[in-house]
Amino acid sequence: MSNLILVLLSVVVVQAHGFTSRALLELQHASARSTPSTILLGDLATANANLTSTGSDISSILTGAVSAIADPTPDYHPPGTQDSSSCAADTCCIWHYLTTSLHAAFLVPDDSGGGGGGGETAGCNSLARGAIRLGFHDAATWNISLPTGGADGSIVLNPAEAARLDNRGLEDIIAQTAAWYAQWKGYGVGMADLIQLSAITAVASCPGGGPRIKAFVGRQDSAVLPPEGLIPSPHADAEVNIKLFEAKTFSAADLVALLGAHTVSRQFFVDPTRAGDAQDTTDGVWDTTYYGVTASPVTPPGVFKFSSDVSLAHYPGTNGTWQSFEKSLELWNAAFASAYFRMSLLGVNNLNQLTDCSRALP
Ligand code: HEM
Ligand SMILES: *[C@@H]1O[C@H](CO)[C@@H](O)[C@H](O)[C@H]1NC(C)=O
Ligand SMILES: *[C@@H]1O[C@H](CO)[C@@H](O)[C@H](O)[C@H]1NC(C)=O
Ligand SMILES: *[C@@H]1O[C@H](CO)[C@@H](O)[C@H](O)[C@H]1NC(C)=O
Repeated sequence: MSNLILVLLSVVVVQAHGFTSRALLELQHASARSTPSTILLGDLATANANLTSTGSDISSILTGAVSAIADPTPDYHPPGTQDSSSCAADTCCIWHYLTTSLHAAFLVPDDSGGGGGGGETAGCNSLARGAIRLGFHDAATWNISLPTGGADGSIVLNPAEAARLDNRGLEDIIAQTAAWYAQWKGYGVGMADLIQLSAITAVASCPGGGPRIKAFVGRQDSAVLPPEGLIPSPHADAEVNIKLFEAKTFSAADLVALLGAHTVSRQFFVDPTRAGDAQDTTDGVWDTTYYGVTASPVTPPGVFKFSSDVSLAHYPGTNGTWQSFEKSLELWNAAFASAYFRMSLLGVNNLNQLTDCSRALP
């Protein structure tokens, strides 16, 4: 019952572009702290929406009725070689070849494993880490008051966005993604899709057990520069970042799940004297160690904790969720997949016209 009310309220909030009601957000804030968001996005949010079968599938995932984790044993056989006309006739075929090649690129060990890390690790390489953060930074430039922005490719397509301080550290993955785009755009691959499918492929490539998140293609690209202030600060406290993410339709629990991506992260610019330090003790491995390390009063050598992460680990509204993710990789993976699936579709307004290519990914 309360979920139904939330869904209805949410639809009102999302539809009210430019007229966001604080009261509605506050209400949602109070009741949905520890559960995933069920808010519909884009063209699915219209009250009497006429959904295509894809639109209906995406709705079911966004509302939590269906899992955001793809079938673990996909049975996809590309209908032809990369350059064949039968491949061109199947929307997912080229994505199969593209993500298979990305998957291999994400497993090549780094030469020296970052600044302070002391040699290479067995974890995700720097391209994979970068791809995960890039997917987040492209999509997160959107909130419910903004008609444009989100997962639109602008972080690579617009040099002014790429050059923002928010995006420091993403230079290499932005250059690499531009090169991949040059290589694949002749096959009809778009930048926004490339960025999100790279992030999704990178998560699944990380040793330890990253989930295979459902992947849809057909987003529209845009080079429009989004407003500033939409990317979270590592110095902000829990309340500030929870509100920032709520404006993007995430619950506080979703934010806690998303932050788990810092299980594979390193910092270079928050404290340059400790460039290369990781956010947990199992750098590059997709596990729940990050949650325990961040909540602990102890900071192991080689670990650098963001104060924003520490604040959320101890925040009374989210500390229970934090601990539950620490205890169960399976629980966290399901929550991460659900929240990142939502991330990958922020600002996308043609959800009814997308194509589900989940089964074609490695
Ligand atoms: C409150 C939210 C968040 C804050 C404040 C935050 C902040 C940061 C900062 C400061 C860095 C290090 C940048 C540098 O100095 O090089 C970083 C790295 C990273 N973040 Fe986050 N982040 C947040 C949420 C997320 C989310 C939602 C994701 C993905 C789902 C994510 C994925 C990553 C990854 C993978 C890296 C490592 C990038 C690399 O090693 O190249 N972060 N984050
Ligand atoms: C939904 O689409 C069908 C087929 O295109 C159309 O006949 C029907 O009128 C539409 N309904 C609404 C509410 O738009
Ligand atoms: C959305 O972002 C814009 C630009 O940063 C900001 O002015 C607006 O207050 C934000 N809306 C919400 C609901 O936070
Ligand atoms: C969360 O924090 C509150 C307030 O600090 C504390 O009373 C509670 O025991 C914590 N909950 C968990 C599950 O740790």
